[in-house]
Amino acid sequence: MNYHDYMTAAVQWAESAGMETLKYFRSSNLRSVTKQNDFDVLTEADKASERIIIESIRSTFPDHSILSEESGESSNPDSDWLWVIDPLDGTTNFKQGLPVYSISIALQYRGETVAGVVYAPYLGEMFSAYKGGGAYLNNHPIHCGRNGRLSTMVTATGMPYDRAVHPDNNLGNIARVSTQVRGIRRMGSAAIDLAYTAAGYFDAYWELNLNLWDVAAGILLVTEAGGIVESIRTDRNHSVMAGSRESLDAFRHLIE
Ligand code: IPD
Ligand code: CA
Ligand code: CA
Repeated sequence: MNYHDYMTAAVQWAESAGMETLKYFRSSNLRSVTKQNDFDVLTEADKASERIIIESIRSTFPDHSILSEESGESSNPDSDWLWVIDPLDGTTNFKQGLPVYSISIALQYRGETVAGVVYAPYLGEMFSAYKGGGAYLNNHPIHCGRNGRLSTMVTATGMPYDRAVHPDNNLGNIARVSTQVRGIRRMGSAAIDLAYTAAGYFDAYWELNLNLWDVAAGILLVTEAGGIVESIRTDRNHSVMAGSRESLDAFRHLIE
């Protein structure tokens, strides 16, 4: 199998999982619990989506390792392949009935992401990429924007779950960026933020303290769409800035 074939498999799994999530979306009796704190919620749709994806991987690639947000890591030390899954990215939106949520599936070979999909089921948007093969939205090629003029940029960010207790909470950056750019958005799904950056809908995106499952597929989308992704912290998990080189050259200095 080549990277394209793996990507195609992930597209199918994301479609099945996405269809499952739609059964729960805006249902009045959606069950949920909180995780680390009240800001961090988990619904039965997250679990149902994860079940479908993990069962699909296990039946298709029984030797591969898996890292998935809700069920953790099941690793095979003899395998070079790791599937990294966020079964529902944007759970707060999902629980509120807001349609900006996604399923993110990435495949790493020896630690390098070689295929990735971000699927927004309600929006009908399937983003996909494979190493060396470009990035796509619903099978059409996408490219990062080339806007290098700060005052006309539209940017996206998020706020970490520990923002109430951790001083490095991104609020200073948000205040600074807001006064310099045309727009700033907080979509609520890091995977969609990266996918929209890959498609040029956002000129730049940054966020602190994410997990690998939030960003693995999205980072490949951006790089395969001709953009760059930079790490902006050494001590805050996955903290990233993404966009085209032109955009980030104009934007980067605003982020501390
Ligand atoms: C969250 C979303 C959100 C980001 C959070 C993530 P989840 O993922 O990606 O946009 O700001 O930091 O944890 O919890 O909905 O899978
Ligand atoms: Ca997530
Ligand atoms: Ca999630």
